[in-house]
Amino acid sequence: MSSSVLITRRLPGAVVRRLEEKCDTDMHRGETPLTPEDLRARAADKDALIVLLPDRIDRAVLDAAPRLKIIANVAVGYDNLDVRHAAQKGVICTNTPDILTDATADLTWALILDVTRRVSEGDRLARAGNWKGWTFEFMLGSGLQGKQLGIVGAGRIGRAVAERARGFGMKVAVTSRRDPGWPDAEFMPLDRLLATSDVVSLHVPLSPETRGLIDQPALARMKRTAFLINTTRGAVVDESALAWALKEHMIAGAGLDVFENEPQINAALPNLENVVLSPHLGSATRETRTAMADLAVSNVLAVLSGQPPLTPIAVRI
Ligand code: GLV
Repeated sequence: MSSSVLITRRLPGAVVRRLEEKCDTDMHRGETPLTPEDLRARAADKDALIVLLPDRIDRAVLDAAPRLKIIANVAVGYDNLDVRHAAQKGVICTNTPDILTDATADLTWALILDVTRRVSEGDRLARAGNWKGWTFEFMLGSGLQGKQLGIVGAGRIGRAVAERARGFGMKVAVTSRRDPGWPDAEFMPLDRLLATSDVVSLHVPLSPETRGLIDQPALARMKRTAFLINTTRGAVVDESALAWALKEHMIAGAGLDVFENEPQINAALPNLENVVLSPHLGSATRETRTAMADLAVSNVLAVLSGQPPLTPIAVRI
């Protein structure tokens, strides 16, 4: 009997064909994610799942799928998977590290440049026909040269964002559990990084320790002239506290690619001019998304043929 794989959302045809050559493939073609009930029902007879960020693979899904050998998440973050319960059941989980690092670091810089130079705000003004012409002090932004970029989380994406800072003449500070020993960055505790950085960029994964890491006291510690950038997970920031800080000009601005309850955005944020909102586009280039889907398929094919996965998620149980 050939193995059976559920793909929870449409993926590029060439990638899916690699899978179809070897397995029975059940791909959800709808425009919205599978409901939890549909997900459980369609996972029930599968050997492998290829899943996306909006899919919650919790205990109920895992317990409903007794044949399951692998869950391949088409994302680097995996807070949507109950990896511990999967490991306890002997189900391998994989993610897509490395291949999305550059795309996500580029998007982080797009947000930094956009919010500090007020590009989206200017776009809104121009489209609304409110541009009255060039004047000396019109829509002045903040320069980056000689300023400090504070990186929270010293993983691959944080590193790639830091590397790009040299091109903009910024100094880099970094905070993480351990000193990563980056040659061109000053390691410091979070409180000091928040108090001294001109741009703070978040790159920690979402976990019980990082949920709400940037709360009201953390925002109050930042300079009033500083910007907060979040391209990791929305719940690392207390979104209501951030809306308050932006509205009261406790910080100068924010660039957000991720939100606490996607696709919902805190209702206060779209009314504020000093925040750039992008709809979770970190890895969204054609090249990167194709490579991510391809890696997920390679992980599934490896595991179903008795080989080790290429990019397993390490779990301590
Ligand atoms: C996207 O957010 C990812 O984790 O890949």
